[in-house]
Amino acid sequence: MIGEWLDIGPVGQISPGNARTLPVQGGEEIAVFHTLDNQFYALVNKCPHKHGPLSQGIVHGAVVTCPLHSWNISLKTGQALGDDQGCVPTIPVRVDAGRLYLLRAAVIGATAPRAMA
Ligand code: FES
Repeated sequence: MIGEWLDIGPVGQISPGNARTLPVQGGEEIAVFHTLDNQFYALVNKCPHKHGPLSQGIVHGAVVTCPLHSWNISLKTGQALGDDQGCVPTIPVRVDAGRLYLLRAAVIGATAPRAMA
């Protein structure tokens, strides 16, 4: 079972309200977020609008505001909120004994959304 989850290190590496990126060989870069209420989420690090780096956005609640054109993206579902349309893949995160794990199959299988016109 343990092989299904990829150990990406201690939870303390990401301070609340911030994100860090995780390069994936042969796949899309992933952004791992730590919210102010101590939850962890992971998304492909590309905004569904025009591929802005969501890891550099502002985290509020379970939402990140893209740094490029301020779309709000749900960290839970990857969906754009409000009137905006689009979705970015999410990657399941597990916290165990102070370490963060990502579901390996989701890391490998994650692909970026297509840019919208
Ligand atoms: S690229 Fe994210 S809002 Fe435009």
